[in-house]
Amino acid sequence: MIPYSFQTIYDDDIREVEKVLKSPFLTQGPKVKEFEEALKTKLKSKYVVAFSSGTSALLGLYFSLLYTKYKLFKSPKDFFYKKIFFFLTTPITFSATSNAAVFLGGLPLFVDVDENGNISLDKLYTFLEILKRKAKNILKNIKFASFVHYAGNPFNTQKIYEILKEYNIPLLEDACHALGAKNENEVVGESKYSLGSAFSFHPVKPIACGEGGAVSTNDKKMYETLLLFRNHGLKKLSYWLYEKEFLSLNHRLSDIHAALGLSQLKKLEKFLEKRRRLAKIYYKLFKDIDFAKPIRQSNYSSYHLFPVRFKFKNLEKKKKYFENLRKKGIGVQVHYIPVYLLKFYKRLFKDFKEIYTKIYPSLDLKTFLKESYKFYKEELSIPLSQGLEEKDIYKIFDVLISEYKKL
Ligand SMILES: Cc1ncc(COP(=O)(O)O)c(C=O)c1O
Repeated sequence: MIPYSFQTIYDDDIREVEKVLKSPFLTQGPKVKEFEEALKTKLKSKYVVAFSSGTSALLGLYFSLLYTKYKLFKSPKDFFYKKIFFFLTTPITFSATSNAAVFLGGLPLFVDVDENGNISLDKLYTFLEILKRKAKNILKNIKFASFVHYAGNPFNTQKIYEILKEYNIPLLEDACHALGAKNENEVVGESKYSLGSAFSFHPVKPIACGEGGAVSTNDKKMYETLLLFRNHGLKKLSYWLYEKEFLSLNHRLSDIHAALGLSQLKKLEKFLEKRRRLAKIYYKLFKDIDFAKPIRQSNYSSYHLFPVRFKFKNLEKKKKYFENLRKKGIGVQVHYIPVYLLKFYKRLFKDFKEIYTKIYPSLDLKTFLKESYKFYKEELSIPLSQGLEEKDIYKIFDVLISEYKKL
């Protein structure tokens, strides 16, 4: 099976991990700091804090914003009587983008995507205007927007920032797909227009730690909060004395994972160059195909995914195609089932029906967020990875076409 994405590990990566295994520190040693320093240079941001996963990084990012800007979770009471707040996000993302905020007491407000799976500028503006007319109290209680750079293809942070600014909503970036990507204004993670960005180093992502993540920010207070958040909310006062500032858990990255990440980071440009080169071949091959169109990605995308929109008569056909391709060894994947369709979120919408019906008539998100649902019906991510070769791309393409014709 050719997976939709997979890691590429070299002998020198293994040697770096081995060195840590033979060193005194498997965790809380020097490698984490070294990894953070290297990321900071790559991302051109003032601060970077490594985390045990992209999910922990998102949780830390959201917490540090709520803690520093809105003074939430300052009192232990805040953990028992969570004050509801709202946040904006899109449904075409891994549910962690939303889960991490719900965990802290946030209710998601889903905004529609554009045809490439990223937050739509128009839909965002229209949505905020609807809230202004129909639900001012909700609008006032939106604490942040967190949007994913879908597939590693960055949305325009400056334009989104400018819309959000009108409503006093800070932007956060779910950059879990997008290490090494750039948009017209900045490197993803530079966070010129946001208060911070979260990354993942899961093996399918641009570089692999095994499990791992990081937050980049330019905000000193958020940085200091992130450091505490990662380690139980503990503040070291002297060699033996420490204090607990707020409630948190262990979200630390180990030195073993950091060593792998650091070694992989040195290969990032090489990996991206390969992904971009292979993507170009796909684009050429799909050019004359009328039943399948790859989403448009910039030359500076990280190409974490290569999503293609297929014309299917219905979802059953898509399912059949998906299964047939996997039987043929092509590990396609769906990115994503809209988050609002997941059981937990359906229940959340029911539990907070009174609030949500003010915004989404009859709670019919499939209709209200038209493009997201259409995207879900059509999209399949086809294999793209630095570990593939040109001949694999031609082979994958041929199977995709012949299996489609059999539908
Ligand atoms: C968009 C997005 N956000 C967050 C995450 C969570 O990252 P991790 O798996 O490292 O916890 C992922 C991982 O798949 C993701 O794709």
